[in-house]
Amino acid sequence: MLPLAVLEEVQAEFVDYRGHGMSIVELSHRSASYGSVHRSAVDLLRELFGVPEGFDVVFIQGGATMQFGMLAMNLLTGGLNGAYVDTGAWASKALDDGSQHGDVYVAWSGRDIGYARVPDSGELTIRENTRYLHVTSNETIGGVQFRKWPDVPVPLVADMSSDLMSRPIPWHRFDVVYGGVQKNLAPAGLALVFVRRSILEHTRHDLASYFRYDVHASKDSMHNTPPVFPIYVMEKVLRWMRDQGGLPAMEEAADIRSGLIYQIIDESGGFYVSPVEPASRSKMNVVFRIADHALEPHFIAEAAANGMPGLKGHRSVGGCRASVYNAMPQAGVDALCEFMADFQRNAG
Ligand SMILES: Cc1ncc(COP(=O)(O)O)c(C=O)c1O
Repeated sequence: MLPLAVLEEVQAEFVDYRGHGMSIVELSHRSASYGSVHRSAVDLLRELFGVPEGFDVVFIQGGATMQFGMLAMNLLTGGLNGAYVDTGAWASKALDDGSQHGDVYVAWSGRDIGYARVPDSGELTIRENTRYLHVTSNETIGGVQFRKWPDVPVPLVADMSSDLMSRPIPWHRFDVVYGGVQKNLAPAGLALVFVRRSILEHTRHDLASYFRYDVHASKDSMHNTPPVFPIYVMEKVLRWMRDQGGLPAMEEAADIRSGLIYQIIDESGGFYVSPVEPASRSKMNVVFRIADHALEPHFIAEAAANGMPGLKGHRSVGGCRASVYNAMPQAGVDALCEFMADFQRNAG
């Protein structure tokens, strides 16, 4: 979901970008006009996300999936291992792709407990020669989220695709934070990579240029043609975020939105059920079941008929999922909560 105000602004200037007689997507990416959008996007990310000077902000095409491989390619040098926390579908994909490019191992897996929670730091097994611990900050499909970051003696790297810009980051504990932008920030086609500058000397340089973090960072993400459209939209979304009060406002709104839906679930007397333990519940993707699974198709269809499409859980897990990303207005959540209460009353 993107803020309506941003979509309208994009629409208004799409055909003729600020008097250029052409669209932003037709202008050269080396033009001064695009250059100022590009720089402003980087500056706003730094300002709003509190990205320290020692990190580079890099824009790369190919989404978060490409980062699964690129991360291992760049960082797993000299016999070092990558540790992965297996919290669900996305963590498993990161691990599988990482394993194609280096030695990786599972530091903890939630598979046997149905991915009902994230681990405590004490449950993680970190071997010698571990380069990083990879965490999936928020499992978009399973609805578990690290509300507390693991405390381990190795640098963290995080896939934040589905909770980017919804919570602050303790940067001193991270070497890399990455994510696709299409949940909270922009249309698909772009991954953000925040990479600690001091590690770039030690990343692999014997890779095709596009796969090298140091190349993207040294060229200010202009090594090749950047994905202009998502960067352009993201810059507007970041301005919108700043107008709303920045990261603290996004975090508070996420707390309120998700809290209200979890409250309906927890106070439903077992009619709605959350498969996730309270301390690991996602503030972006509220995953739930109706205890009587046979009611779920009716719930999803009626919700759609009432202007709330997209409540079907991911096809791999079934059930229901309310994705409440940054641009979701409070009114949308209030409408969902009212609908959930009504549906339960009518079913009883
Ligand atoms: C947590 C997480 N990681 C990775 C991905 C993959 O992202 P992309 O489609 O940009 O490759 C997704 C996509 O939804 C995701 O939710």
